[in-house]
Amino acid sequence: MSIPLMGNKSPRDAELITEINQLRKEKNAVILAHYYQDGKIQDLADFVGDSLDLSRKAASTDADVIVFCGVRFMAEVAKILSPEKIVVLPDMAAGCSLEDSCPADEFAAFRAKYPDHISLTYINCSAAVKTHSDIIITSSNARHIIDQIPKDQPILLAPDQHLGGYLARETGRDMVLWPGSCIVHERFSEKELIKLKAEYPDAPIAAHPECPVHILNHADHVGSTSSILKFVLESDADTFIIATEPGIIHQMEKSSPEKTFIGAPGIDGKCSCNQCPYMALNTLEKIRDCLRDLTPRIEISEEERLAAKKPLDRMLEMSPPAAQNRPDKTGRAY
Ligand code: 13P
Ligand code: SF4
Repeated sequence: MSIPLMGNKSPRDAELITEINQLRKEKNAVILAHYYQDGKIQDLADFVGDSLDLSRKAASTDADVIVFCGVRFMAEVAKILSPEKIVVLPDMAAGCSLEDSCPADEFAAFRAKYPDHISLTYINCSAAVKTHSDIIITSSNARHIIDQIPKDQPILLAPDQHLGGYLARETGRDMVLWPGSCIVHERFSEKELIKLKAEYPDAPIAAHPECPVHILNHADHVGSTSSILKFVLESDADTFIIATEPGIIHQMEKSSPEKTFIGAPGIDGKCSCNQCPYMALNTLEKIRDCLRDLTPRIEISEEERLAAKKPLDRMLEMSPPAAQNRPDKTGRAY
């Protein structure tokens, strides 16, 4: 009952992949992909990872060109950390509902109301919002970073209210939350999830913290995409219910082919509505085109880049060391 692998390749795909491989050599390009990309894109990437892994790869690569197969805020982070590189995003319309929920001017005004609060901002935001933030967080380092902040320091966390609520419950910290959310993770249905769990009572539920609390309450494991992957790899269970974007199931099926992965259902009882419409904009054709033309490019003014880099540098300084034990059976990912 696991969803079909999205990595099945047609003859046309094979042609495009050949062109992409030739172009990436010619341009000395690296292809970075998030786990929510189509399986075919994950398979051709040089590195696949979560938001933190991808930031680190973007900061350390010696390629001349970064092709970012993810969404715009991720490619912006790559440009902020590696300004001398050309950073291209296959489709500039690949945004994020969390980013859209938090316009920079409104965020600046909100922050001004809480001058005593430290501003922790989820990486899913624009470069302009980052310039108004103290420390950037991702779902894989947030807990570790919060634990380094003095207990009596109140926190303002934006833009994801569900990640913020989860962290506030977990840490017992006083937090003011910006009311943003991810349209993908909000679509899971608790009623359908309970029905599915009754059908598979032994299947652990793994959920991303962008899910609302009524979904997280049923989860056996809550964490970033990379931590969910690690959880399923290390667990003895043979069937899992996955409450995050179903693109990640491609890596799970590659690293644990003997196990079964079921996407958590949406309100229609299926999981297809939980595909991220922004991530889905990237295609093999668009990757080929952006490698060939080196456009569309991410451009950020130097003033904004330097201001946005400060909270990103703090994030990298305060993050746990990169995981050494990820399920790397592809020889490429991580
Ligand atoms: P992570 O991969 O960092 O867990 O984040 C998921 C996400 O929101 C991507 O948009
Ligand atoms: Fe944004 Fe949600 Fe898509 Fe991630 S899954 S890019 S948070 S809309």
